[in-house]
Amino acid sequence: MFGTASAEPAEEPFRWGAASAAYQVEGGASAEGKGRSIWDHYLDDLSLAGPGMSGAVAINFYDRAQYLQDIALMKEMGLTSYRFSISWPRIIPDGLGPANPAAIAHYRRFIADLKAAGIRPMLTLYHWDMPLSLAKAGGWENRESVAWFRHYADVVFDNFHDEVDLYVLVNEPLVERAMKQLAEQRMTGAPGEFAIVPPASDLAGSLRTFNHLLLASAAAKQSFDAKGYKGRVGLAVPLFPTLTGPDATPADREAATLADGVMNRWFLDAMYKGRYPADVLAAATAMGSDLGIRPDDAATIGAARFDYLGINFYAPLFIRRPAGAAPGYAAQMFLPEGTYAAYNGAVRPDQFRALLDRIRVDYGNPPVFITENGAGFPGEDELVDGAVNDTQRCRYLVDHIGAMKAAMDDGSDVRGYHVWSSHDNLEWLFGYGSRFGMIHVDFDTQARTPKLSARVYSDIVKGKPVTAASCG
Ligand code: BGC
Repeated sequence: MFGTASAEPAEEPFRWGAASAAYQVEGGASAEGKGRSIWDHYLDDLSLAGPGMSGAVAINFYDRAQYLQDIALMKEMGLTSYRFSISWPRIIPDGLGPANPAAIAHYRRFIADLKAAGIRPMLTLYHWDMPLSLAKAGGWENRESVAWFRHYADVVFDNFHDEVDLYVLVNEPLVERAMKQLAEQRMTGAPGEFAIVPPASDLAGSLRTFNHLLLASAAAKQSFDAKGYKGRVGLAVPLFPTLTGPDATPADREAATLADGVMNRWFLDAMYKGRYPADVLAAATAMGSDLGIRPDDAATIGAARFDYLGINFYAPLFIRRPAGAAPGYAAQMFLPEGTYAAYNGAVRPDQFRALLDRIRVDYGNPPVFITENGAGFPGEDELVDGAVNDTQRCRYLVDHIGAMKAAMDDGSDVRGYHVWSSHDNLEWLFGYGSRFGMIHVDFDTQARTPKLSARVYSDIVKGKPVTAASCG
């Protein structure tokens, strides 16, 4: 059973919220001087998610008349926090040139509208929609990206610091990289494989971009501090506890440990220990990879002292060593037969609790925001007689909030929780088929219908007694 009162740390009221990202919800693909992003290119020019599947309209959230209705729904649910991203190519259409006053005015009005509804903004600067011009110049693989991002962050801080005091610099470098790899496979006509754990062929490329994203974040954080602005600045990292299957061999377990190094420790060790994990560096070096990492990079990242850790948690990943792999790093994700799973993997709230315990014990118990947690299940988002009974999502949320609460009782310093997502929206290369929202969206009419999960989450937020049985 949950209530708001016991979940409130002394410093500030616990933030109960939901999350979204610009490209997944806004539409308005060229409204008010917006430049093009890599995602406009992937989905509009190249149709990589299939015909007509793009963010050109999405859920029409750039339209004020629409988003005011959506804010009203979230207010009714009692949400006190909304994590959203602003679009880099709206703010700086060609990535590096002058800022676009119309876009800044739009987001300032949006923030004022949120606050007027009693909902506090958590502003994400980068949720994957890189300006196309910069993506063409190498994107995060180019070390210049550190300077590009710092410039963008300065524009954002200068224009929003008086209204926003909680920032997410970048969202999920790991999953963004996996998505890019999938996009590139689809460009060749192959269906492609969504491999969250980097394949051996992309280990070096992945680690190189992760280093640049972390350095870019450190540069932005230093700049924020130097300007003397008040607020908290961090990153949202997807953390994936690594598990092995029942028949795991020692080689599988070794692969899982290294996969943990690549997906989790790479980010956490850099941010909280100022060094990259030795086992991952050794594995990459043994493969003859040039990571382009300079001796001081990890220390620079540690010295940035991010104000909180943003955790996106969906599922643990089962890892094995692929059969016939060449010597060295090789890891493959799989789902053991009979595992209960959502779109994003095995449903394991116990692993969420274990992850939060690990952050407390191994990383000095930093303040944490759950920046995303949520699920989608095939076939359960049907609108029938004006209602959506998303029982499985509802139970997923109740169980994961319970796990978070248990970790907090053990001392984890969690300051807020954001469901992914408030609304059904565009699931990147998977189009509009996989829904994650608590609010159903009819993508043809833009009609909104709160689902069962919205009602039960609202009860949790309002401190009413809730158990898994509340989901039916
Ligand atoms: C991403 C979201 C995505 C969600 C659900 C996260 O990896 O940050 O953009 O929609 O998971 O798959």
